[in-house]
Amino acid sequence: MLREPILISILILQSLLFLGHADPPPNCTRSSPLVDFETEFKMVQHQLRGYLKIIDDCSFRVSQFDMLPGSDVHWWGAVASDFDNLTSGFVVSDHKLNHTYANSTFVVRLMPNVTWKMIRVLAAWDLPTASDFGHVVLNATAKNKTAFEAPTMFDNCKVLSGSFRVRWSLNVEEDSIEIGLEGATGVLDYMAFGWANPNSTDSDFMLGADVAVTGFKEDGLPFVDDFFITRYSECVTNSKNGSAQGVCPDSIYEGPDRVGLVNNTGLIYGHRRDGVSFVRYRRPLSEVDYKYDHPVDRFANMTVIWALGKIRPPDSLQPYYLPQNHGGLPFESYGNLVLNVSQHVNDCKGPLDAEDKEDQDVIVADAKVPLVVTSGPALHYPNPPNPAKVLFINKKEAPVLRVERGVPVTFSIQAGHGVALYVTSDSIGGNATMRNLTETIYAGGPDAHGVQGTPMDLVWAPDRNTPDLVYYHSLFEKKMGWKVEVVDGGLSDMYNNSVVLDDQQVTFFWTLSKDSISIAARAEKKSGYLAIAFGSEMVFSYAYVGWIDDNGVGRVSSYWIDGRDASSIHLTHENLTYVRCKTENGVITFEFTRPLDPACGREKSRQECNNIIDPTTPVKVVWAMGARWSGERLSERNMHTVTSTRPIRVQLKRGSAEAEQDLLPVLAVHGFMMFLAWGILFPGGILAARYLKHFKGDGWYKIHVYLQYSGLVIVLIALLFAVAELRGFHLSSVHVKFGFTTIFLACIQPVNAFLRPQRPANGELPSSKRVFWEYLHIIVGRSAIVVAIAALFSGMKHLGKKYDVENAHRLNWALVIWCLVVALIVIYLEYRERQRIRNQIFGRGNWVLGNIEDDDSLDLLSPSRIPANKGSEASLIMEVQLEPLNR
Ligand SMILES: *[C@@H]1O[C@H](CO)[C@@H](O)[C@H](O)[C@H]1NC(C)=O
Ligand SMILES: *[C@@H]1O[C@H](CO)[C@@H](O)[C@H](O)[C@H]1NC(C)=O
Ligand SMILES: *[C@@H]1O[C@H](CO)[C@@H](O)[C@H](O)[C@H]1NC(C)=O
Ligand SMILES: *[C@@H]1O[C@H](CO)[C@@H](O)[C@H](O)[C@H]1NC(C)=O
Ligand SMILES: *[C@@H]1O[C@H](CO)[C@@H](O)[C@H](O)[C@H]1NC(C)=O
Ligand SMILES: *[C@@H]1O[C@H](CO)[C@@H](O)[C@H](O)[C@H]1NC(C)=O
Ligand SMILES: *[C@@H]1O[C@H](CO)[C@@H](O)[C@H](O)[C@H]1NC(C)=O
Ligand SMILES: *[C@@H]1O[C@H](CO)[C@@H](O)[C@H](O)[C@H]1NC(C)=O
Ligand SMILES: *[C@@H]1O[C@H](CO)[C@@H](O)[C@H](O)[C@H]1NC(C)=O
Repeated sequence: MLREPILISILILQSLLFLGHADPPPNCTRSSPLVDFETEFKMVQHQLRGYLKIIDDCSFRVSQFDMLPGSDVHWWGAVASDFDNLTSGFVVSDHKLNHTYANSTFVVRLMPNVTWKMIRVLAAWDLPTASDFGHVVLNATAKNKTAFEAPTMFDNCKVLSGSFRVRWSLNVEEDSIEIGLEGATGVLDYMAFGWANPNSTDSDFMLGADVAVTGFKEDGLPFVDDFFITRYSECVTNSKNGSAQGVCPDSIYEGPDRVGLVNNTGLIYGHRRDGVSFVRYRRPLSEVDYKYDHPVDRFANMTVIWALGKIRPPDSLQPYYLPQNHGGLPFESYGNLVLNVSQHVNDCKGPLDAEDKEDQDVIVADAKVPLVVTSGPALHYPNPPNPAKVLFINKKEAPVLRVERGVPVTFSIQAGHGVALYVTSDSIGGNATMRNLTETIYAGGPDAHGVQGTPMDLVWAPDRNTPDLVYYHSLFEKKMGWKVEVVDGGLSDMYNNSVVLDDQQVTFFWTLSKDSISIAARAEKKSGYLAIAFGSEMVFSYAYVGWIDDNGVGRVSSYWIDGRDASSIHLTHENLTYVRCKTENGVITFEFTRPLDPACGREKSRQECNNIIDPTTPVKVVWAMGARWSGERLSERNMHTVTSTRPIRVQLKRGSAEAEQDLLPVLAVHGFMMFLAWGILFPGGILAARYLKHFKGDGWYKIHVYLQYSGLVIVLIALLFAVAELRGFHLSSVHVKFGFTTIFLACIQPVNAFLRPQRPANGELPSSKRVFWEYLHIIVGRSAIVVAIAALFSGMKHLGKKYDVENAHRLNWALVIWCLVVALIVIYLEYRERQRIRNQIFGRGNWVLGNIEDDDSLDLLSPSRIPANKGSEASLIMEVQLEPLNR
């Protein structure tokens, strides 16, 4: 009886001993050529850093390992690091990476059925998201030295503040130092680090300091610039002599032609991952230009300074990414310390953990505006590894899409026929069934594909049962899309109308009530402030600016802008109520309500009193965004960095909008040529035929023929212009009907001129054919002009409909005035003509015969002619004869 417990305990002891002996396993030889291979991890995500060494055929050691936790992270083997091979890899160890790692060192055993032969790439892999956190490439030929030196790894690291570190490695032979700045900062922030003037006194470290300013441009590419500080201010250049002061790039001090001489910092690498910016650059130690750079004595204790703050992107005034005043608290957003670069330090324990890790653009879907889905080359796909081509929505690469429950979303799919969009519960996409997994498909499928010419529209209405997080992906390939956040209610629920302003960068919402209007504007990209304005451009407009002030409070102010510089922006005091402004991931949204008519009462002189909104006429809306806005004291740095390229005309009452297009130049030329022909040449020719006949010779005839023929040529060219521009005729429109009638009439004229019967010899009666022809020629010619005037006005109406109404109105009035002027001239000439004839008839008595040339201009159409002068028709018949062209 006693033996059994003893036996059991021996068994337990044995099994424990056995378990203890399981490490190292029975057959862990050192035969693989990879044994003793050492390398550094390439960081891909989750701030993964560390060294790897292969111990033997079935184990490896990981040291100084840093990693932010994932959901289900394993060691993963693959045959190559490209997307297809990496995603079709396999788990190589039972070891799990299930927490945050900070400078950890541990040994990992491969599974018994895995050998080094099967593995070329070893990765830390998150299974549910198919996500590569970091990997090494195994290469037996390079095992004696560290095979791969990751740009994220350095010999030293010093903590500057809770969110900012400097790492460096000395390269004594090359007399240089490589510096890595690592900050958990915003996308639009700079990181600056450099050496103070060695002569500076205790508190004055900034003046005369030589710093490198690093950050990321708008396209996501890193930059580093060598700066020199001459004053406690942002960089200001004197426009007169070009001299600069403040925190300026070295090259500004020297002017553009000596840029190469003062460029000491060279960018090596940069990335932004998990909300952490990292930039590695190199600078020389002692060989510097002494004017704007301080030599670094690598054995001396030297004072270094650092700062974090907002970047001001380049604009029309200056081409540099300039740091703005860092503000903030000492040793949080700026500071200084004493550093000896050859003394080894590493006090950076664990990965930097940014509060906001999501950098991806957010697109908020609205009910009325379709989301344009395209595909394009991947540059910053949020979840590597990824295929070379990924999905773009509204021109943004794999953004987070935010939709509201109950608000249908329309996708306009034009990503090519190889990409079928679907909305799924699966985070990887590419048809989970193929991977023996289940997924819920909410919208789309194999038929949801299209190209730009024939996009396919897919409507998806997320409902109460749609989970908070789903994904949009291609059904045919994994990892082309990204997340869809499904939320309850938002701006598009609260406002009746919305339109997207120019460039799809700003959405404009409004709700009209009896005498007030509620307006909201949402930027679709990150910025420091957002401005919308009523006007054709920012200058001469009423602008509303939403921004977050230095205390983190959202503010909205109204302005009247009457010039292009900061001093032309005048704060107005409009009566704004329900004012809100907030920022989310750097994206600004602001809302306010204002009366339609400011109704200032007695103070009519104030500019904002003219800012009356009439909901029945369209308002033009433009926008601008910039890095920073300061409420009261405006300066140059309030100038925007991006703006709309053209205004959108918003029909407040109808709830629609359209882009204001520039007048298509070809149609403008068409209009001008037609006016030249029908407004000047043809009427001129007709007037010449009618009123110049009493002059001797055939001058009138030449003028008539030349004017009419050149007019006809111009008309035909102008017609070709319009046909070419509009790609064909659209006979439905009134303008085209009038136009063709008048051109037809105009073309009849030379034909009937050619066919006209003989002119009667002097003193003979004209044949009846001749009389008929004269009537026909005159009637057709004059009706052509009348129809042409109708065509000109209808053309102008088209112009107004298509383009700017105001301009068309003005042109219309000009045309009316022109017609009146011509009509007055005709009346005057006609009066003169009648007087002249009367004088001839009554002044010279009844001598009527034998002066055909003088009298032939009596109005043919005058009904009184024939009965009155029955006996002397021959002399009084009007001669409107055209002579043969070859005369
Ligand atoms: C271990 O290796 C030896 C020879 O190296 C071999 O005889 C033995 O079968 C191997 N054992 C196992 C469990 O693989
Ligand atoms: C990756 O895998 C494919 C087959 O899926 C293969 O054709 C290709 O050669 C592999 N790439 C590398 C670099 O081995
Ligand atoms: C992580 O996984 C290891 C086994 O690989 C286990 O021993 C440990 O308890 C796990 N830790 C946590 C926090 O789950
Ligand atoms: C190794 O064996 C495990 C089961 O012990 C299996 O799940 C895994 O797929 C195998 N791996 C390979 C590469 O064969
Ligand atoms: C392996 O390392 C050697 C020497 O460093 C190098 O020439 C070779 O290109 C590497 N091979 C691979 C596949 O990276
Ligand atoms: C690596 O070093 C060993 C001696 O430590 C030497 O025998 C071997 O040739 C070296 N291999 C390479 C690839 O340089
Ligand atoms: C520091 O002061 C010394 C002596 O006053 C001077 O020679 C040197 O140029 C100064 N250095 C700088 C960087 O101003
Ligand atoms: C500065 O030098 C680096 C190489 O050292 C070069 O890549 C960079 O373009 C230069 N910048 C300027 C502004 O000349
Ligand atoms: C990390 O671990 C190594 C030993 O593995 C140690 O020398 C080093 O000081 C540690 N670093 C930090 C920052 O704790």
